[in-house]
Amino acid sequence: MPSFLPTRRQFTAAALAGFAAACSRPSAPREITIYSGRGENLIGPLLQKAETALGVKINVRYGNSAQMALAILEEGQNTRADIFIAQESGALGALARENLLTRLPDEVLNRVDRRFRSPEGLWVGLSGRTRVIDYNTKLVPKEDLPASVSDLTQPKWKGKVGWAPANGSFQAFVTAMRLTEGDERTQAWLRAMKSNGARDYPSNAPIVEALGRGEIHLGLVNNYYLYRFTAGNPDFPVAHHYTKGDAGCLVLVSGAGVLTTAGERSADALSVIRYLLSEPAQQHFADENNEYPLVFSVEAPANRVPLSEIDPPDIDLSRLGDLEGTLKLLNAAGVL
Ligand SMILES: [Fe+2]
Repeated sequence: MPSFLPTRRQFTAAALAGFAAACSRPSAPREITIYSGRGENLIGPLLQKAETALGVKINVRYGNSAQMALAILEEGQNTRADIFIAQESGALGALARENLLTRLPDEVLNRVDRRFRSPEGLWVGLSGRTRVIDYNTKLVPKEDLPASVSDLTQPKWKGKVGWAPANGSFQAFVTAMRLTEGDERTQAWLRAMKSNGARDYPSNAPIVEALGRGEIHLGLVNNYYLYRFTAGNPDFPVAHHYTKGDAGCLVLVSGAGVLTTAGERSADALSVIRYLLSEPAQQHFADENNEYPLVFSVEAPANRVPLSEIDPPDIDLSRLGDLEGTLKLLNAAGVL
């Protein structure tokens, strides 16, 4: 036997030394990279906690969801992103359609209602907020509230409804309506709203403020704005009204997926997603961000209609991505 080959004893010793080195490997800390379409104020504190709890260094690049999705699409196989976190599910859908997301394990997916995750298991919702009709409780008796958003074009609401056509969540609502009603009916609704004197506001908060003043009777908004007003003033005369099964009560979700390029970092990426679905993290979304927790075991805050009682339109939230088509429609209807 040539002498340069190690003996079995030498070989075993070398293997053990190598194994020990791999186990303690201080030179190669575990590290993953997240591209986040959620603002640092909404998710940063949780990612810092995840880093400490999991012993994984987490690099985060922040931007808006569409920009971050576009960056990943452009970087393709060379992207540094292991996880994509999106403020809106449509941006996750855009990556899913390009086969850039891996299927998540059932144990992760099943923590969240199937309405709030990818039907193909490619992303999972982390937190939610809803579209809702807010109304002035002194000006609108409960029995007069509209059964659906299509009722808002009736003469009795002329000049009394506020909306924010330039706002991203409003545009997501219009995209949802396109999926349930089709483009033609959606455009007809937009035109009818405009000719019924719908009043433009720059964003959601001014709508809620105007409702409080009685400047308008109803407003198409996101649910969490109202809590800012009622927190300081329990008598603020505005309340939520949920329609049934139409875009007016759409649940908008933030969510996360693991990139196919994550490779050997996938296990750590999944641990971070599990962390974001843990009860303390879900409670954080509810308490600090005024959002809905999405895992079954965590209750919505007491001042909120439980998600189980809301009847959002039956659509695949991955398909809320066609912002361009929605902007075209808003322009064509003369709303933007
Ligand atoms: Fe908002």
